[in-house]
Amino acid sequence: MKTPNMLEAKKRTKDKVNILYDEYKITKDMKIGTNKTYHIKTYGCQMNEHDSEVLSAMLEEMGYSKCDVMEDADVIILNTCAIRENAHNKVFGMLGRIKHLREERPNIITCLCGCMAQEEVVVDEVKKKMKWVDLVFGTHNIHRFPILLNEVAKSKEREIEVYSKEGDIIENLPYIRDNKYKSWVNIMYGCDKFCTYCIVPYTRGKQRSRRHEDIIKEVNDLIKDGVLEVTLLGQNVNAYGKDLYDNYGMENLLEDVVKTGIKRIKFVTSHPWDFTDKMIEIINKYDNILPFIHLPVQSGSNRILKLMGRRYTKESYLELFNKMRDQIKNVSITTDIIVGFPNETEEDFKETLDLYEKCEFDLAYTFIYSPRVGTPAAKMKDDVSEEVKKERLERLNKLVSKYAKKSNDKLLNKTVSVLIEGVSEKANDIMMGYTDTNKLINVKTDKSNIGKIIDVKVTSSKTWSLDGKSV
Ligand code: SAH
Ligand code: SF4
Ligand code: F3S
Repeated sequence: MKTPNMLEAKKRTKDKVNILYDEYKITKDMKIGTNKTYHIKTYGCQMNEHDSEVLSAMLEEMGYSKCDVMEDADVIILNTCAIRENAHNKVFGMLGRIKHLREERPNIITCLCGCMAQEEVVVDEVKKKMKWVDLVFGTHNIHRFPILLNEVAKSKEREIEVYSKEGDIIENLPYIRDNKYKSWVNIMYGCDKFCTYCIVPYTRGKQRSRRHEDIIKEVNDLIKDGVLEVTLLGQNVNAYGKDLYDNYGMENLLEDVVKTGIKRIKFVTSHPWDFTDKMIEIINKYDNILPFIHLPVQSGSNRILKLMGRRYTKESYLELFNKMRDQIKNVSITTDIIVGFPNETEEDFKETLDLYEKCEFDLAYTFIYSPRVGTPAAKMKDDVSEEVKKERLERLNKLVSKYAKKSNDKLLNKTVSVLIEGVSEKANDIMMGYTDTNKLINVKTDKSNIGKIIDVKVTSSKTWSLDGKSV
């Protein structure tokens, strides 16, 4: 048994990160899934979604097949998120359901992985109170999942294996894409920013960039497989390469991905700190880098930004923001905002509203601050009531809707480029897709356009989506 430790997880060492190419293997004795099924529930960010694609591929290589109904599956996996309390609660609720299920079907194997598995408090609770959880593994040893599952299935004994310290980079892990035309591509793991409210640097470990050759090879393979769009993934992608190279950063990587000829390139998430002028220049220079930037601001108050450890001010954020808006044609900029950080005053909050009015973001993901055990902010005493926090969130969300609609209205009667992904839920003759500015659009067009990037005229605009027809 190996359990996590937050103090260990916090340490950053200069230890060399090994890049291993042959670490993952499915041997004959691991093919235990014939005539058995699996079901994965995924919580959290794109990184977790992508990890679930990896877990699916591993299970299928072991012979398991996918089952859409959790209640019928032989192996149930909860790939969890630790970012806020409500993500936690959802998982604990689900574990309760699985407990009952196990009483009816004692042979189910229950697995818990992802960011919650990296938390000491969670693993302690599972250990003490949740005997029906058979396997716990963390974010650093996902490649060991088939070995661990095989052991649990054969021994019928519980296994907990979570490393606190980040491990090596494991290349050549398989994954099954949910989407035929789009794919996520990890470019780096972990985060060293240590924003004071955030658990990610503890659950995902230190920043480790993948070698650019490996990333480019992956993109080339995806192109051969019919993929038109890649999203380069990392907690702060602008810092790509800083841990690995002296002279190769996100700018260089973007240019090399451009050269593969992939039709569309996106990247998330950008931290304002590492975003250079050269990046703006490159985004503007190449048509296949989409004019879409997710640039979390978190707060508009300099006092709060400092307490959050964000390393920029409202003014420097605005300067960067305006540069992007001025220089990148038709750019769409979205953000994340936390309200109710410890001791946030009405004045602080008004600074956030003011910043929002100035930026008129295309969209924002807004959250009430949630204390995470082990982070510095969780130790700050807080005099803001939940009621006030909820009220602030509502006020902010009104602005979010207002400007989401306004930015969509600007596209009315314009022609936009859309990757058609499939038939929409609305009607059989309506297709759905995303514009190059990452806006959801329902398009009146022929089914034969699925998997193509086409020109669409926007015919109506709503708050969260657009309608259009092919031209
Ligand atoms: N790496 C990204 C964000 C990852 S987490 C970045 O730095 O921008 C996604 C979002 O969750 C964050 O941008 C933040 O707005 C929110 N978040 C993180 N920790 C939180 C907490 N403790 N309470 C509430 N929201 C939080
Ligand atoms: Fe969390 Fe900050 Fe890292 Fe984003 S940059 S993952 S908010 S610590
Ligand atoms: Fe959640 Fe972990 Fe992502 S905490 S947001 S799943 S990195």
